[in-house]
Amino acid sequence: MNQEEFFKKITSHAKEYGFVFPSSDIYDGLSAVYDYGQNGVELKNNIRQYWWKAMVQMHENIVGVDAAIFMHPTVWKASGHVDAFNDPMIDNKDSKKRYRADVLVEDHIAKIEDKINKEVEKAKKRFGDAFDKEQFVSTNPRVVGYKQEIETISHCLYVAMENNDLADIKQLIEDLGIVCPISGSRNWTDVRQFNLMFATQMGSLAEGANEIYLRPETAQGIFVNYLNIQKTGRMKVPFGIAQTGKAFRNEIVARQFIFRMREFEQMEMQFFVRPGTELEWFKHWKEERLRWHLSLGIPAEKYRYHDHEKLAHYANAATDIEFEFPFGFKELEGIHSRTDFDLSSHSKFSGKKLQYFDPETNESYIPYVIETSIGLDRMFLAMLSHAYTEEKLEDGSERVVMKFPAALAPYKVAILPLVKKDGLPEKAREIMDQLTPDFMCQYEEKDSIGKRYRRQDAIGTPLCVTIDNQTLEDNTVTVRDRDTMEQIRVNADELYNIIRNKIAPKKI
Ligand code: GAP
Repeated sequence: MNQEEFFKKITSHAKEYGFVFPSSDIYDGLSAVYDYGQNGVELKNNIRQYWWKAMVQMHENIVGVDAAIFMHPTVWKASGHVDAFNDPMIDNKDSKKRYRADVLVEDHIAKIEDKINKEVEKAKKRFGDAFDKEQFVSTNPRVVGYKQEIETISHCLYVAMENNDLADIKQLIEDLGIVCPISGSRNWTDVRQFNLMFATQMGSLAEGANEIYLRPETAQGIFVNYLNIQKTGRMKVPFGIAQTGKAFRNEIVARQFIFRMREFEQMEMQFFVRPGTELEWFKHWKEERLRWHLSLGIPAEKYRYHDHEKLAHYANAATDIEFEFPFGFKELEGIHSRTDFDLSSHSKFSGKKLQYFDPETNESYIPYVIETSIGLDRMFLAMLSHAYTEEKLEDGSERVVMKFPAALAPYKVAILPLVKKDGLPEKAREIMDQLTPDFMCQYEEKDSIGKRYRRQDAIGTPLCVTIDNQTLEDNTVTVRDRDTMEQIRVNADELYNIIRNKIAPKKI
């Protein structure tokens, strides 16, 4: 199965089993907007809770906030979003389709990368066991040529983007002979800047409505509450403020399912530190956030850091934690050392002193900030693509099993009476009633036990508990493990501890 087929399977499984639906599905959907179904909402809540627990509950010096989505319009002036939160766009005059100009160039680069991969695959077949990939890609003249080509294009794109030189970006598209994927023509408009913020009106027009924005990131809700929280919470630097919530971006190219959406959710934390200590804290959070990912038990090779060499003007260090999605390694989370840019700018625009008096050094300063920012929907997609597994069983049948980390699975346990009679449903309900206050349980009595196991596998339930005639005699049940399919017989009183142990995070 190639990457594209695999990704298609994940998206259709997500729909078929109530994880993710296109928004307004009965009206054929709304581009890059999605709804989470009955299983999706549980998975999403569990991811959010797992993050909140690790960031807020497990850190004495991090507290939460829930700021409104609507904010004073000056916030976005101060943050730089009004002037600089732009993407370069270009239209094809024949197809009337709009593209992100830089993405057209990146797609062109991806095609050259594909050519390299094809050369590698061919050589692998030719040389067999003796094949040395590293040596091949550094010496094969064709591959070396492709790599140089990529380097040159990437450099030109970087320079044009950095200088905000829209004419140069267009020139690059023309020089590379990039055609519109729909019309196949090179009939392009000029490249223009497109602001990604959604604007709307607050108040009625009669009373002089103000233009305001749907927030494009949750971070600014933290910065504008810095002083309120520091004072009322008597917080001492270093301390953090965490927030989860919706963000909105009018993405020009929204694709890859829930990877890039127009309405999405972020989980962000801003950590306020003494100036001069920020790079130590940056290192700390870079490691700590990767540990959080690994605590879910996902193999380390699925993650990698991508340190930014070229930094935004306000940052003095930045890295992405990338995840290997079905379409390659892509950004899942960003960790940025944002200096005192945001607080200084809000201080200037609001006229309020956003400072901290440090009793240890007897001085006042504007704290520096380390930000950790992860997309909840992207984390959801990472979990979906990690979990989706097709297996051939010993009896020749096949199953699709979602191997979610147990802590995140929508349901922790399924309660299944073997048959719908002989008092088994009543006993099953009795057992379930003891578990539901602590765990998400699902009761199922319809169809054969085999079919019910398959349905639970497809939504990733880690444990299935089967109640049979013996249960009525000695209160024992069978517990089936989703991944190994092994079954053990235990006393029903042990279920609480068995489930607890199963869903406990891995200690790193
Ligand atoms: N406050 C910093 C900030 O917003 P960002 O890199 O633009 O930085 C942070 O976004 C994270 O939010 C990304 O790593 C990604 O996981 C998620 N994200 C950004 N744009 C997104 C989109 N259009 N759809 C889904 N997730 C997105």
